[in-house]
Parts: sequence; C-alpha cells; structure tokens
Amino acid sequence: MAEKIKRLVKQKVETPYEGANWNTNEDEYTQSFYEQNLSQFWRPEDISLQPDLNVWSALSDDIKLAYARNLLVLTFLDTYQGDIGMPVVGRSIDERFHQRKAVINYMAAMENAIHAKSYSNIFMTYMTTPEIDDLFRWGEKHANLQNIMKLIVGEYKALDKMNYKKQFMEDDPSFNEREFEVQQWKAMVASVFLETWLFYSGFYYPLFFYGQGKLMQAGEIINLILRDESIHGLYVGRLAQEIYETFPVDLQDELQGWMNKFLLDLYHEVGELIESIYDAVELTHDVKIFVRYNANKALMNLGFEPYFEHEDVNPVVLNGLNTETKTMDNFSMKGNGYQKMKSEMLKDSDFYFTNEKIIKFGEEKWV
Ligand SMILES: [Fe+2]
Ligand SMILES: [Fe+2]
Repeated sequence: MAEKIKRLVKQKVETPYEGANWNTNEDEYTQSFYEQNLSQFWRPEDISLQPDLNVWSALSDDIKLAYARNLLVLTFLDTYQGDIGMPVVGRSIDERFHQRKAVINYMAAMENAIHAKSYSNIFMTYMTTPEIDDLFRWGEKHANLQNIMKLIVGEYKALDKMNYKKQFMEDDPSFNEREFEVQQWKAMVASVFLETWLFYSGFYYPLFFYGQGKLMQAGEIINLILRDESIHGLYVGRLAQEIYETFPVDLQDELQGWMNKFLLDLYHEVGELIESIYDAVELTHDVKIFVRYNANKALMNLGFEPYFEHEDVNPVVLNGLNTETKTMDNFSMKGNGYQKMKSEMLKDSDFYFTNEKIIKFGEEKWV
C-alpha cells in the first residue's frame, strides 16, 4: 500500500500542472464551439410565461397532463446531463485539452441551471404546487422513464469509474487504456443520444403548440433550449468520432453492434413512454415518427448512417425546428433572437475539418 502511494505521489510530481493557453487553438473546432456557446447564453427568468396563461387555462386536462409530463421527461434528462453526464465526459477528456474541458463544463452548467430550471419555471407558472409534486412523483415511478435514465446514466457511471482508475490506478493491472477509451466513447454515444435524440423528441409537443401560435412564451424557451442542445450534440458527437476513428476495424464493428443494441433498448423504452404520455391526446403515431427522425440525426452526429427509414415529419413541428425563420419582436418576446453579446450565424464553411468531415451548425434547423 505504502509503495502504491509513493508511486502515485511520484507520478503527480512528474506531471507538471499547466494553465489553459487560449492563445493557441487546441484543434480546428473547439474555439468556434466556445464562441457559439457563449454567444447563446440566456437566463430562464428573461422570458415571462404569464402571457401563456389564457391559452393554458382553456386546454383540456388530457392536453395539460401530456404537456406537463413531456416537459418532466425533459427535466429528468437535463438534470442528469448537468449533474453527471457532461461533468463525467469533461473529466474524461485528456489533461492536455483545457479548452475542450472548458467548453464541456460550460455546457454542463447550462443543462440543469438553465434548462431544467426553465421547465420548472413553466410548471410554476402553469400549475399549483400539489400538481407539480404529483408530476415529479409520476416521473419517479414511471418504469420506462426510470429505465431510460438507467441506460443513459449507467454509461456515465461506468465512465466515472474509469476516470477514477485512469487518475489513480493507471499502473494497476486492472486498468486498460483501450477499455477506458471504449467507455469514453460509449458515454459520448449516450450523451449524443440524449442531446440530439431524446431532447429533440421531447420538443415535439411544445413546437406543435408553438407552430399553431399557442403557448408561445414556453415555445420561446424551448427554442432557446433546442438551440443549445443542437450544438451540444454536435460537439460531443465530434469528439466521439475522433475517438472512434482510432479504433481498429474489428473493434469498430463490435462497438457499432453495441450502439445499435443500445439504440433499440432505448427505442423500446421511449416508445412505451410516449404511448403513456400521448395516447390520451391521440398523437402517439406522429410523435414516434419524430422519435425515429431524431434517432437518425443523433447517429449522423456520431458519424453513422441513419438506422430508420426516412418518414415525413409533421411540417408544423419541423418548421418549429427552423430557427432561421423566426422573426423576433423585442417588445413581446426574447426568443432565440435574444443575444447577450454579438454573434453571427455560422456558415457551413466554418466547419470544414481536417478529416474532411463536415459538421454544419445549419443542421440545427434540420430541414
Ligand atoms: Fe439541456
Ligand atoms: Fe445539452
């Protein structure tokens, strides 16, 4: 034991601490993502939800319940993405990449402190405290939602353990660098599935209302969140691709098999969850199409071909994803035209990378 501690101390002494030097780019894309993330900063309290109350009070109980339960699913996902998902992925990034860690840490801060908080603001405006408490209990007892959390957070926890091993047991025979990288990639797959697939699928219902000119303030919040989740999925997807490309072909094949099974396991749980929310408002079929559409988008962010056949998505919802078409009125809504600081729309040409893969911020429009 004493030998082991001595070895660890020796290792620490031999690795000098260093500062993040933003004068040099760590890679071709991280500083662009940094700029885009910060230019999008917003606060939940900037958007007043009061103007929605007239519309909300006129909705049927079934619709209100479906709307609230869907946002609760998003709340659970954002909570754990902020509490463990992004922090663990950030911790796993090699010590050399201080800028990458900073970008991930910034994203982590947005998830719970901004996104989950915004959903709570919607609940607090639309519902009573006993209704909100019932809603959260519903989520805690919902088998499919809990299984989805277990699947996603399970990958984060597995990486958390590997992070510890890499940090403190690198000389231990039970530590294997390749196993670490595999788990790091799997956690990134879980992260992109959560960001680009599960989050986006949850945007269906708010966008469905927004597209019809209803619950517009809540819709504005969703627009701001979807703009954030769009670049989160792109960035983590980009990092995942970088790791995957270093794997030998046979390992790549094995991992693609793992990913497809992971996708189908999630798809099964998501399908039943959606039935439990949307059957009462007769939208299950339409929402499931959007779920498959977003699963394909997540795979594309990870560098893979779509899994599901192409289907036409409800145009009202698709239009809601198109952030470019929104004209903002500064007097009535902050909307996603709200900017804390100067930013400009990124162009495709900003995202030509050395490996000749192109990632487009334009994809966030997804039309
Ligand atoms: Fe989020
Ligand atoms: Fe996110």
